Amino acid sequence: MFEQIKLPYATNALEPYIDQLTVETHYGKHHVAYTKMFNELAEKAGVAGKTAEEILASLDEVADETLRKGLRNHGGGYYNHNLYFESFSPTPEKEPSGKLAEAIDLAFGSLDELKAQLSAAAAGQFGSGWAWLASDMDGNLSISASANQDNPISDGSGRIPLIALDVWEHAYYLKYKNLRADYIKAFFEVLDWKVISDKYDKIV
Ligand SMILES: [Fe+2]
Repeated sequence: MFEQIKLPYATNALEPYIDQLTVETHYGKHHVAYTKMFNELAEKAGVAGKTAEEILASLDEVADETLRKGLRNHGGGYYNHNLYFESFSPTPEKEPSGKLAEAIDLAFGSLDELKAQLSAAAAGQFGSGWAWLASDMDGNLSISASANQDNPISDGSGRIPLIALDVWEHAYYLKYKNLRADYIKAFFEVLDWKVISDKYDKIV
């Protein structure tokens, strides 16, 4: 049974950057719905015993096209939003530490440059989707964007997502309306680099 992460903060704790109504709707409605559908589809496809990562990495093995598409969208929706919601804190560490800090300097030159490139990928994603910071198995970092609920696991690149930046309108429209760039700026105000650094430490 796939379960949503428990929010590690109150729904109003990310104000004013991410507002309470958006968290309540996004986590309490959208993420709930993805999770419910993913569980149903995983059961139907006979893959409910696998991890979400395993399912997303082996979608080609699901012969039925409707089930495969459903697992890609709802499994991605389930997995991506867990990553997204667990990455925030009302008292975030504002900079990466340890090995991640070194890897960022190596790949991007500076944290500001990483943020600029990730922001550009998020702003440039046409329509609904996500921007990602991901690592390969050797710890090399890269940035990408994907449509719908695709992610660096389901795209077959073998990368592990570290930062998931949701740019579906449901992530920002209640507060920011059409101003996606303002939401992207706000995202970094509550992104907890301790969570991201800890994730990276488990890879390398
Ligand atoms: Fe979302």
